[in-house]
Amino acid sequence: MSTVYYTASSLDGFLATEDDSLEWLFPLGTLQHSSFPDFIAGVGALAMGAATYQWLLDHGDAVLAETGSAWPYQAPTWVFSHRPLPAIAGATLHFVQGDVRPVHAAMQSAAGERQLWIVGGGDLAGQFYDAGLLDELVIQIGSATLGSGKPLLPRRILSPTLQLQSVQQQGAGMVELRYRVQRDA
Ligand SMILES: NC(=O)c1ccc[n+]([C@@H]2O[C@H](COP(=O)([O-])OP(=O)(O)OC[C@H]3O[C@@H](n4cnc5c(N)ncnc54)[C@H](OP(=O)(O)O)[C@@H]3O)[C@@H](O)[C@H]2O)c1
Repeated sequence: MSTVYYTASSLDGFLATEDDSLEWLFPLGTLQHSSFPDFIAGVGALAMGAATYQWLLDHGDAVLAETGSAWPYQAPTWVFSHRPLPAIAGATLHFVQGDVRPVHAAMQSAAGERQLWIVGGGDLAGQFYDAGLLDELVIQIGSATLGSGKPLLPRRILSPTLQLQSVQQQGAGMVELRYRVQRDA
């Protein structure tokens, strides 16, 4: 069982524009032609921040058209926020705040042997990293730059650095990088 930050990023390291648009991403590839179907099949629990959840709330119609459901995830999801957020029909949701460690423990209990998916954003993934709870990063780097926006991983990871496991080109629009988080000796 591992805890994986699986996401797409622009070439210059942004998940979304400042105003949370993902329009830059969609022309670059499709979920069906990526590693996502295999990945999601092994996911037993998800964690995401409020802006990521809000994007799903705001784009229910688009998500429905793409996946057949306004909430495409079977596994339970922990949503981090300091404020009340509306639920989405059909989703198993836990609204939480603060320390990621008890949330990670609850996710592990729910997921059993399956993987934990840290959906984003970048600072939330950083909180799991800071707590020593992030094992892998799977980043699809799109062939586009945004100049500014919501950062992929606003942390300094220098010693030890991440360990590159694989590089896979996905057409002209994407390259997938897989990293393992190395622990201090
Ligand atoms: N490119 C991709 O594949 C991809 C993947 C994931 C996300 N995204 C997009 O990237 C953007 C990410 O937005 P973001 O960087 O703002 O990150 P985010 O993690 O989605 O949202 C940040 C918010 O989460 C809440 N939060 C985070 N940690 C918390 C904690 N420990 N306790 C309580 N609340 C906590 C806070 O919300 P409150 O204001 O409620 O306190 C914080 O302002 C979104 O637009 C999302 O749709 C893109």
